[in-house]
Amino acid sequence: MNVLLLGSGAREHALAWKLAQSPKLGKLFAAPGNPGIAQHARLVQIDPADHRGTVDFCLKNSVELIVIGPEAPLVDGLADNLRTMGFCVFGPNKVPAQLEGSKGFTKDLCARHKIPTARYSKASDKLGAEAALEDFGLPVVIKADGLAAGKGVVIAQTPEEAQGALEALFARGKADVVIEEFLEGEEVSFFALTDGTAIVPFGSAQDHKRVGDGDTGPNTGGMGAYSPASILTAELERRVIDEIVAPTVRALAKQGHPYSGILYAGLMLTADGPKLIEYNARFGDPECQVLMMRLENDLLDLMCSAAKGNLAESEPPRFSDEAALTVVMAANGYPGTPERGGALAGIEEAEQLGARVFQAGTAESDGKLVADGGRVLAVTASGKTLKAAQEAAYAAVDLIDFPTGFYRRDIGWRAL
Ligand code: AMP
Ligand code: GLY
Repeated sequence: MNVLLLGSGAREHALAWKLAQSPKLGKLFAAPGNPGIAQHARLVQIDPADHRGTVDFCLKNSVELIVIGPEAPLVDGLADNLRTMGFCVFGPNKVPAQLEGSKGFTKDLCARHKIPTARYSKASDKLGAEAALEDFGLPVVIKADGLAAGKGVVIAQTPEEAQGALEALFARGKADVVIEEFLEGEEVSFFALTDGTAIVPFGSAQDHKRVGDGDTGPNTGGMGAYSPASILTAELERRVIDEIVAPTVRALAKQGHPYSGILYAGLMLTADGPKLIEYNARFGDPECQVLMMRLENDLLDLMCSAAKGNLAESEPPRFSDEAALTVVMAANGYPGTPERGGALAGIEEAEQLGARVFQAGTAESDGKLVADGGRVLAVTASGKTLKAAQEAAYAAVDLIDFPTGFYRRDIGWRAL
């Protein structure tokens, strides 16, 4: 089977690496890809915003399955157009992708179906938002409604900070905001594979969103992750499925908009039980890298089953008992403007130790690999215990020479 993979991050490198292990894979195409993905796929020039061009490419190249890595093409309805043309697609249509695309959509769905989440209020002008603020204590959480690449959330500790966040959001006039109660607890990510009816667990992970050691500094897309997250016990996982994921999947199916693909639930484990913080309509990055490291069965089979709606009859995902941990190496300047063009060396040596070095913002220049983005590499390793996985990942990191980069030295600290 020929497959087209869309995206260019370390997440997509991990997906390409795993897809390439399937005996059923024919040609793997990737767009835009990166030099790491090119080890497993032929890179092609397709703009995922050009739906007709994407369809034409798939028709010409006998592509049967399209795997959509990032959220933007999902929210833009690329999956809908590909499905209409008869292709199998891994990733939800535009309406169910609103679970990630609109925080208001998700909060309203939770309210209608009594899904546990932070108490909230929506507003679309500053006066309304200021009035809504009065119903909440401090800290209070203020979110822009749409896709914001992790930058749309402010946790305000004082009334002045809350006011400042609203001013910034409404600086250009109208905006949709969600104001939320602050949830206390530990955060964990849970993944479920679904075809709109059947739901199968696809592992757990914990991400490290802040740029600096000890969870300090600004938010990033994620500086490292590990799986499994032992804090999500089997009993809690059951509750997450029964109280959060299953009612969401059922509600969307009932509305005539079944969710197909991977559903990523960002959760807070509070004193009152697990509560939903947010949904993502795709794999997390870097969470995907640790999940792929632990996945034992054929990713292509699993993706096809979800896309074709026969997940219930298929072999469920199986994960190794080993732990996996990934350390993101980023270019100086990230999450602000990253320094581009820095030299990278030592990847082969790191992989000889048994680690996998998934590439994100890399490029080839004069035949050499260089940094070309914020997050550059995700150095990923497994071990019998989380501690062993952490040691293996950092032993590999130590072999990588990236003078214009940095990384966190404490990935996994919460669990260790
Ligand atoms: P989101 O984009 O909704 O995932 O929010 C980004 C981050 O903000 C989350 O990963 C949490 O760390 C934090 N956050 C969001 N909403 C809340 C909340 N209601 N209570 C506490 N922390 C939150
Ligand atoms: N690592 C967080 C995300 O992918 O949204």
